Amino acid sequence: MFMNRPRRNRRNEVIRSMVRESQLLPAHLIAPLFVIEGKGQKVAINSMPGQFRFSIDELVKEAKALFDLGVKTVALFPAIEEKLKTPDAREAFNPEGLNARSIRAIKEALPEMMVMGDIALDPYSSDGHDGLVDSKTGEILNDPTLEVLAKQALCEARAGVDIIGPSDMMDGRVAYLRNALDKEGFHNVLIMSYCAKYASGFYGPFREALDSAPKKGDKKTYQMDPANSREALREAMLDEEEGADILMVKPGLPYLDVIYRLKENFTLPIAAYNVSGEYAMVKAAAQNGWIDNDKVILETLISFRRAGADIILTYFAKEAATLLRK
Ligand code: PBG
Repeated sequence: MFMNRPRRNRRNEVIRSMVRESQLLPAHLIAPLFVIEGKGQKVAINSMPGQFRFSIDELVKEAKALFDLGVKTVALFPAIEEKLKTPDAREAFNPEGLNARSIRAIKEALPEMMVMGDIALDPYSSDGHDGLVDSKTGEILNDPTLEVLAKQALCEARAGVDIIGPSDMMDGRVAYLRNALDKEGFHNVLIMSYCAKYASGFYGPFREALDSAPKKGDKKTYQMDPANSREALREAMLDEEEGADILMVKPGLPYLDVIYRLKENFTLPIAAYNVSGEYAMVKAAAQNGWIDNDKVILETLISFRRAGADIILTYFAKEAATLLRK
């Protein structure tokens, strides 16, 4: 009687690479980048070693470096000055604001680079919430928020954005934004909806980078309960019906099951957001010499691909693309 020997297919790198089921390429990656006012600024983010807040001139340089490495999409997150944050978050649709200027600068310098803009009010809101807040009850107001989000989306589209990423989790926003964009002739702007976005502890470093933590309360009335995955299917169904082009799951690693479920049940491409807290954990352990930085980065990213993610938003984009070159 012969014995089954799965190890034969692992004997050497030639056979291993022939039977490898998932591939990771720089083309799968989107690099999130933080932007600040000023010139020649590249300010380190404490809780995210290796990540910076860039002034627009430095941002363009970073985008060029990424493009040359094969990472051809960036997602922009502006750090808005405290004095510009208001309850109505009107800075979110200022055509001369930091966000619009950042988009324009990259599209001018690198027309082939795809630029993704975030849609949510938290960086612009004096309340630090993704939606408008009722000053009496503290409730996050859904429908009035949609109007502001649409203005934000149009502002980004006029600045030349290629993809909008609604990360606000208001109900009905995908359809609302699609209609607003189409009405102004922006039918080519893609919508990558943060369709399953969880109320997560893993966003801590991001909120430090943008100084955007909620002033009061938490985001549990709009972001999803980490205990749920059937609800992710419901959100995905709605976003698909409402016209989303790509469905995103966020955070990434703790929700690989959700990525897998969406991939099995939907035909739209799936994206995963490997968020700031996931990045911080790897960097902290690597800096202590407790794990191998390069191995863990590539293992993390391939796990998203194995689970079914077509696209990965990750702060490791530049490092990973550099590793993949070798
Ligand atoms: C805000 C937004 C957040 C992230 C992306 N867009 C934070 C939040 O919802 O509080 C988090 C990204 C990360 O942690 O890397 N709408």
